[in-house]
Amino acid sequence: MDFLNLCKERYSVRQYDSRPVENDKLMMVLEAGRLAPTACNYQPQRIFVIQSEEARAKLAALTRMSYGAPVSLLVCYDRNESGKNTPKTFGEDYDGGEMDACIVGTQMMNMATELGLGTLWARGFNAQQIHDAFGLPENIVVSFLLDIGYPASINVNRHTPRKELSATVTEL
Ligand SMILES: Cc1cc2nc3c(=O)[nH]c(=O)nc-3n(C[C@H](O)[C@H](O)[C@H](O)COP(=O)(O)O)c2cc1C
Repeated sequence: MDFLNLCKERYSVRQYDSRPVENDKLMMVLEAGRLAPTACNYQPQRIFVIQSEEARAKLAALTRMSYGAPVSLLVCYDRNESGKNTPKTFGEDYDGGEMDACIVGTQMMNMATELGLGTLWARGFNAQQIHDAFGLPENIVVSFLLDIGYPASINVNRHTPRKELSATVTEL
């Protein structure tokens, strides 16, 4: 699909059918994330694949944001490996890990769309609860969930209207 059309066609899928995500498609999604740019190319993203019945049940017990998707990717970053601005280097404290994770997530979301899959990006949950439930190490920061699956035939497309460019873009 032409990229601009892909951006127009993608919407947040909040109802999935029971069809599993083929492993080769999942691997292509993960590969698109692997190729993402990251600060200093440190690649701090850590992605946890939630697709076993046990893992999905654990997630579903903590948040409804998996929306019954057959696969949820818990996208995290390793704060020990992310690129940082420090008071010494740039006169400020800034951790680029979250931004890196979001670029990885965006590439995976778009790849999934290209493959005919639906996705939902979600952050409406308690990250610490999920971190602890899956026994993640202390240096791993949970960033967001990317649900992936085939959209149910009846889906509520809440693809909301976008603001005009003039409302969000300003030339300085
Ligand atoms: C950072 C972020 C957090 C989001 N968190 C949630 C969420 O917790 N639950 C949910 O249903 N949708 C969530 N969404 C989806 C947005 O609501 C959705 O992308 C937006 O309304 C635009 O609709 P569209 O994706 O269909 O174009 C989130 C999206 C982003 C980018």
